Amino acid sequence: MIQILVTGANGQLAQCLKTLTTNLEGYQFYFYSRNDFDISDKAKVEAIFKTKNFSFCINCAAFTNVDTSESNKETSDLINHKAVYNLAVACTQNNVKLIHVSTDFVFDGNQSLPYQETDKTNPLGVYGNSKLLGEKAIQNTLKAHYILRTSWLYSEFGNNFLKTMLRLAETRPEIGVVFDQVGTPTYAVDLAALIISIIQKDNDAFGVYHYSNEGVASWYDFAVAIFNLKNLNTKVLPIRSIQYPTPAKRPSFSVFDKQKVKHTFNVSIPHWRTSLEKCLQNV
Ligand SMILES: NC(=O)c1ccc[n+]([C@@H]2O[C@H](COP(=O)([O-])OP(=O)(O)OC[C@H]3O[C@@H](n4cnc5c(N)ncnc54)[C@H](OP(=O)(O)O)[C@@H]3O)[C@@H](O)[C@H]2O)c1
Repeated sequence: MIQILVTGANGQLAQCLKTLTTNLEGYQFYFYSRNDFDISDKAKVEAIFKTKNFSFCINCAAFTNVDTSESNKETSDLINHKAVYNLAVACTQNNVKLIHVSTDFVFDGNQSLPYQETDKTNPLGVYGNSKLLGEKAIQNTLKAHYILRTSWLYSEFGNNFLKTMLRLAETRPEIGVVFDQVGTPTYAVDLAALIISIIQKDNDAFGVYHYSNEGVASWYDFAVAIFNLKNLNTKVLPIRSIQYPTPAKRPSFSVFDKQKVKHTFNVSIPHWRTSLEKCLQNV
């Protein structure tokens, strides 16, 4: 039985993994929430890695509040960088392969062509910077790593843009949503399925990979699609980012080139609208 450690069990990605792996034969997944396993606690990291003979660690734990990060640099750095280093060291010492999740926020968004894994990083804020430092800590410590950069993650679990839109629609007849940030929504269940494919292939094709759903959208497009598919009459007003100021600046363009992940793991990626329809059946 292949044993797999999953951190951040109460987060949306980990919950998607849980639903997909319940009956996966040949694999035993161990899910740890922050309460059971704080990844910034070095002694705890060392102890947990000794409890089983893990083959993989999937790091779903992160400090994901992009705006709060701006005024909480230390916490963001602790969880997204220093704790990730702890995991990478433990993986090296225990011969465990690390699957880590990173973000489109490592880029500044100034490019006009889809971002490849080799494109220059230049985070615009504290969160993106902490995530980039986490990536580098892994790359400098552990050969056996898969770093999966993803974007605009949503699902039926946790807090995300989809849930926010549906909540706002209950009380507001119209909602202003930015149209000048373009990227691709990613259904966390699809990302979880990719992670399972990587584990099942186990082909040691280590490195950085870009993964989102297929297609391109603005947040405005995403909101319109949510309300259309839900048959809600909520009106969506296209607004500019400067009309919706946030503590953290976001990349205005973060579409990914996904050739590498598709070829390496032989996966087909659903269009974001197809996956949105699927997700809405569970919300
Ligand atoms: N959400 C997005 O739009 C997005 C976009 C691109 C990339 N990503 C990346 O995708 C990954 C998964 O994101 P997600 O949306 O599933 O995040 P999430 O729902 O915010 O889940 C993160 C989980 O990490 C846990 N956590 C925080 N600090 C921890 C610590 N010190 N030790 C252990 N667990 C800790 C949190 O615990 P609590 O539940 O107790 O807070 C939470 O359950 C993250 O690496 C994120 O950076 C996300």
